[in-house]
Amino acid sequence: MPHSKTCTDVLIIGSGLAGMSLALSLPATLRITLLSKGRADECASAWAQGGIAAVLDASDSLEAHVQDTLIAGAGLCDETAVRRILEQGPDAIAWLQQHGVPFSTQANGQLHLTREGGHRARRIVHATDRTGLAVHQRLLQACQNRGHITLLQHCTAMELLQDAQRRCVGASVRNADGRHQRMLASHTVLATGGMGQIYPSTTNPATTTGDGIVMAWRAGCAVRDLEFMQFHPTALHLNGKAVGLVSEALRGEGALLRLPGKNGNPGERFMLRHDSRAELAPRDIVARAIDTEMRAHQLPHVLLDITHQSRDWLAQHFPGVMALCAAHGIDIATQPIPVAPCAHYTCGGVQAHVDGRTSVAGLWAIGEVARTGLHGANRLASNSLLECVVMGRAAARRMADQPLLKHPTVHRTQRHESSGFSPISQHEMQLNLQQLMQQNVGIVRSNHSLIAAAKQLVLWRSQWRGADHALRNQLVLCSLMVDAALQRHASVGAHCNLDWPMREAAAA
Ligand code: FAD
Ligand code: SIN
Repeated sequence: MPHSKTCTDVLIIGSGLAGMSLALSLPATLRITLLSKGRADECASAWAQGGIAAVLDASDSLEAHVQDTLIAGAGLCDETAVRRILEQGPDAIAWLQQHGVPFSTQANGQLHLTREGGHRARRIVHATDRTGLAVHQRLLQACQNRGHITLLQHCTAMELLQDAQRRCVGASVRNADGRHQRMLASHTVLATGGMGQIYPSTTNPATTTGDGIVMAWRAGCAVRDLEFMQFHPTALHLNGKAVGLVSEALRGEGALLRLPGKNGNPGERFMLRHDSRAELAPRDIVARAIDTEMRAHQLPHVLLDITHQSRDWLAQHFPGVMALCAAHGIDIATQPIPVAPCAHYTCGGVQAHVDGRTSVAGLWAIGEVARTGLHGANRLASNSLLECVVMGRAAARRMADQPLLKHPTVHRTQRHESSGFSPISQHEMQLNLQQLMQQNVGIVRSNHSLIAAAKQLVLWRSQWRGADHALRNQLVLCSLMVDAALQRHASVGAHCNLDWPMREAAAA
């Protein structure tokens, strides 16, 4: 297929919080191209609810935030990366405020801090429960106001381009009008977010299909820790499906998890039977406890009860969750919310330094697509948006020092496989794949379920070699995840294999 060609200095694939933080922090002398696969606001960043973790209260400390992150990460965090990212928390918040992000404040004008699972202190900065939208809108506006930043929406990166030394020199993209184009760049940045869409039930937007991880892997870049898919404990669950997120901040403000009682009323509170931190234990523990209760009592969901708060208070603090539930006929001021866990966050990804450098020259990875070691086996709530801002700004500092390529030349592109046998429709295949991941690689796995998934994936990959790009990527991604899960000879954090005893980090 003939390709047209364009050149830019920095090609940022992804216009979520990570991509935009980088774009806005680079010098205005650079030509920057920012891509989004769908509309710019169709990304996890714009959907974020609870907030951004940062140590801002005098009674809190960086050390406490570090310890909470290490405990949630179940012993697998890289402590150096943890410290480097968390110490930037207050600066990251100040930078967002400079861009006009309207965070919620107290009567005295100081930032209001809320709490989430695994945090021993109130340290979550937020804009009611629509933090992501507030942040995304301001940064998008800023990007659109800068003449050196070109935002291309509905533009999908398909594969990375490399020169004869395997340096990444850009990407081949499919434009909004369906035409293919080579975008050559001195620096190519993956800011493509996570891969929640490989599961049938997820909090993630449709764009979150792990493209960056597959592109990096195909280019020979190291990927790591993919077995740690984090399941959020409380998605609003109706008719067997997640229909939206119910922020962990509700539990931070006292909401309790209960079994359904008689006549739909809230019954027994169960979290204390699973962990002394109860509803505020780290996310993997709460998600597993809910899953255990649902299985034991054959329930489609459990209940989250915040009816102890007044209607006015709820409208002020959780307008988004209130509206979401009201749209489904649930008044959270008087009724408990049906919730169940669903796929939420990709703790692993493309191995990267805190400033986004990867093992392939010219290729960077920032935000959720990256695996820096901050999250270990299970991310602490609200550390992700912080990581996006810190990595974006750190990558900008590092990149600004580096010379631009005079004549990037493409040596290698990945070969497209020839067409194969297609027994069912691609849509049907996508659903089968999601079901396989849910059943065999869900909150709880076993050697048997993982081996069965691996075998099925080998079969499907041979049958679907000629399938469309997105489906081929999904098959590769699921295989990478299953392989990682099989290679982890332990149950730890978000990876619970029934054939290995659970290794919990001790509660502080
Ligand atoms: P994203 O924001 O997901 O952006 C990815 C971008 O990449 C998009 O623009 C997409 O179009 C683009 N893209 C993907 N593939 C391609 C391709 N092939 N070509 C071109 N473009 C591509 N974290 C917190 O810290 N606090 C919270 O309160 C919080 N709440 C959350 C609530 C929800 C509902 C969800 C889903 C997540 C939440 N998270 C939260 C996690 C957090 O929002 C994400 O980890 C973070 O926003 C990821 O940002 P990102 O910039 O890395 O990726
Ligand atoms: C939430 O608001 O519960 C999401 C927070 C997060 O994913 O960090």
